[in-house]
Amino acid sequence: MYDLKKHFLADKKIILSKIENVLSKGVLEMGEEVEKFEENFKKYCNVKYCVTVSSGSMGLLLALKTLDLKKNDEVITVSNSDIPTSHAITLVGAKIKWVDINEDSLNIDENKIEKNITKNTRAILPVHLFGNPCNISKISSIAKKHKLKIIEDACLATGAEYKNKKIGSLSDLTVFSTNPGKILDGIGPGGIITTNSKNLYLQLLQLRDYGRKERPKKWPVKSYTIGYNSKLSTISAAILNIRLEKLDEYIQIRNYNAELYKEILFSKKIKFQKTLKDAKSSWRNFPIRIKNRNKIYDKLNSINSLVKLNYLPPNHQDECYKNFKHNFDLKITEKVNSEILNLPCHQYMTKNEIETLSNHLLNLIN
Ligand SMILES: Cc1ncc(COP(=O)(O)O)c(C=O)c1O
Repeated sequence: MYDLKKHFLADKKIILSKIENVLSKGVLEMGEEVEKFEENFKKYCNVKYCVTVSSGSMGLLLALKTLDLKKNDEVITVSNSDIPTSHAITLVGAKIKWVDINEDSLNIDENKIEKNITKNTRAILPVHLFGNPCNISKISSIAKKHKLKIIEDACLATGAEYKNKKIGSLSDLTVFSTNPGKILDGIGPGGIITTNSKNLYLQLLQLRDYGRKERPKKWPVKSYTIGYNSKLSTISAAILNIRLEKLDEYIQIRNYNAELYKEILFSKKIKFQKTLKDAKSSWRNFPIRIKNRNKIYDKLNSINSLVKLNYLPPNHQDECYKNFKHNFDLKITEKVNSEILNLPCHQYMTKNEIETLSNHLLNLIN
C-alpha cells in the first residue's frame, strides 16, 4: 500500500547505482549483498539467524517444512490473513485449525487457542495483522504448556515491536515478506525467516537451495535433502540493504500517521485497531471498521486508489477451501471482515493528504 513511484524516487540515485554495481559484478544469485542483508537484518532483529527466501509465502512454507508435519498434524492459525498463510499449511500436508480473532486487535484471540488444541496439534501460526503485534507472551505460554512450535506470520510486521523487542526474535520462527508494497520492500518478490535455533537455520539453508548445504566453486555439489529453489534476488537484497537503514524512520512516520488518523477520525461510527500497551505496530495500513463499508469503499477508493479492502473473502470462505469441511466458530472473523476498510498509512503521505482523505470519509459516514 504505497505509492511505489514515490518510494523509488526517494532513493533513486543510490538504488540505480546499487543495481549497476550488482549487474556489473555479474553475481545475480546469492553473493555479497544477500549475505550482507542477512547479517544486517539479524542485527536489526537481535536474533541469531536469518535466511532470505524468494517470498513471504515460500518463507511460511519452508518454516513449516522444518517441523516435519504428518498427515493428521494440525496447525492453528487465523482465517483473516492473506491466503498464503493457509496455503502454506495445506501445502505441507497438515490440517488447518482456524481460530477466531479478537475484535479489537484483529489478531488471533489467544483465549480461544487452548480449546482448539488436540493431541494432533503441532504448531501455532499467529499473524500480526497489518503490522499489529499479537500477544506473544500468552501465545508462548500456551505453546510451552502444550509443547507446540510457534511460527509467526510477520509478513506485514517488519520493524514492529513487542515488549521493546523487534518482532523476529521472539519465537521459534518468524517469517517476513519483502514484496513491493510491504513495509521493508525490494523490487520483486522476497521474504525473510529469522530464528534463534541453529538446527532450524541449517535446515532452512538447505530447503531454500535444492537441499544443498554449500556452494563450492567446483562440482560435485551435493544435495542432502529434498529442497526448493527459493532464493532472494541479489538486486532486491541490495535495495533492501539501502531501505533497512531507513526502516525505523518509516515506522516512526507510520505511527505518526496512525495517530493523526485517530485524532481526525475520532467518532462513534468508526472503530480502530487496538495495539497492546507494550507493543508498537508497524502500520502496514490503517484499518478502520465502519457500517456500510462497501458503499463507502467504492466512493473513497475513487478518490484515493490506495484505500483498499483486504483478505476478502476470509480464507475459510475462499474458493480453494470450499470443499474443506469444518465447524469452526469464526463469527468475529466474518463480522469484522465485512466492516474493515484499509486506509494508506505509508511514510510518503503528507499531513494534508491524511486530512483530506479523513474529511472525505467523515462526510461519507455522517
Ligand atoms: C499476512 C500475510 N502473510 C503472507 C503473505 C505472503 O507474502 P508474499 O506476498 O511475500 O508471498 C502476505 C502477503 O501479502 C501477507 O499479507
